[in-house]
Amino acid sequence: MPIDQGIISMQSLTSGPNALKNVDLSQPSVARVYDYYLGGSSNWAVDREFADRVLEAFPLFRDIAVANRSFHHRVVHDLARRGIRQFLDVGAGIPREGSTHRMADEVVPDCRVVYVDNEPVAVAHAEILVDEEGDPDRHAVVNGDLREPDRLWRDVYATGIIDPEQPVALLMIAVLHVHQPGKDGSDIWEQSVARYRELLPQGSYLALSHLTGDGVPPEIKAKLGQLKKMYDDSGNKVICRRRDQICALLGNFEPLDPGMVWAPEWRPWGTPTRDGFATSNASAIWAGVARKQ
Ligand SMILES: C[S@@+](CC[C@H](N)C(=O)[O-])C[C@H]1O[C@@H](n2cnc3c(N)ncnc32)[C@H](O)[C@@H]1O
Repeated sequence: MPIDQGIISMQSLTSGPNALKNVDLSQPSVARVYDYYLGGSSNWAVDREFADRVLEAFPLFRDIAVANRSFHHRVVHDLARRGIRQFLDVGAGIPREGSTHRMADEVVPDCRVVYVDNEPVAVAHAEILVDEEGDPDRHAVVNGDLREPDRLWRDVYATGIIDPEQPVALLMIAVLHVHQPGKDGSDIWEQSVARYRELLPQGSYLALSHLTGDGVPPEIKAKLGQLKKMYDDSGNKVICRRRDQICALLGNFEPLDPGMVWAPEWRPWGTPTRDGFATSNASAIWAGVARKQ
């Protein structure tokens, strides 16, 4: 079994039925770099070299990635406890220990999960994970692009995993700060999310986290400026947005308490720990969940 405590080996990505043929190694990829921050092994030298430069300039960024992952974990648990049994993880990345189906199964063993990403390594990784330890009646992977909501929705329903009559938790965790160019090059993040709000059945949830420079300590803001330049120069543009812009993505959905907050402050487990940050705003991630009435 190529899964070792949740980690897909590089060998299983490069050989076997789901082997990747053409990994673009001309530039780092957001998914593979993020995997490296989180201690994964599904990354190449080009990704590690870039990630090491980022971490050298901004060591706290690894803690920010971990805090984001921890928010993701709490959201899945919280929504599963509220009775949600279907999760659509868009921009799922390279799920390491904390893949959504495992998080959900920790609460109830009958949740359905569809993973979506448009990065070949992320898709292959999710396919191997689902093949090896998933349940074909409950788990699937879609190679899709969030900028095409209707097409994505069709592909997701075509898996037969998601019941269109039942509520869905749409997870868009740390994906919308990745530049989402439309046909004319302008960012179509808002339009895309607005369409997802329409497509979601009543009683569904939208969970978001997003990188921000709004309200963070000045030294973190300066580091984010450096980080943005590095990502932009690498061919992976990132956009930090204000809290009000991120809140607007929830439209008329009803926010769950405590609303749009710093990631460590979203329903922390046990005593609030701020995930090790001196102050929660150093996490530089706004995070929130809202329900479609
Ligand atoms: C920073 S990673 C976050 C991964 C995961 N959601 C998490 O929080 O651990 C962003 C992910 O979004 C994916 N992504 C970016 N733009 C996308 C798009 N237009 N459609 C689908 N996935 C996208 C990237 O490939 C990457 O895997």
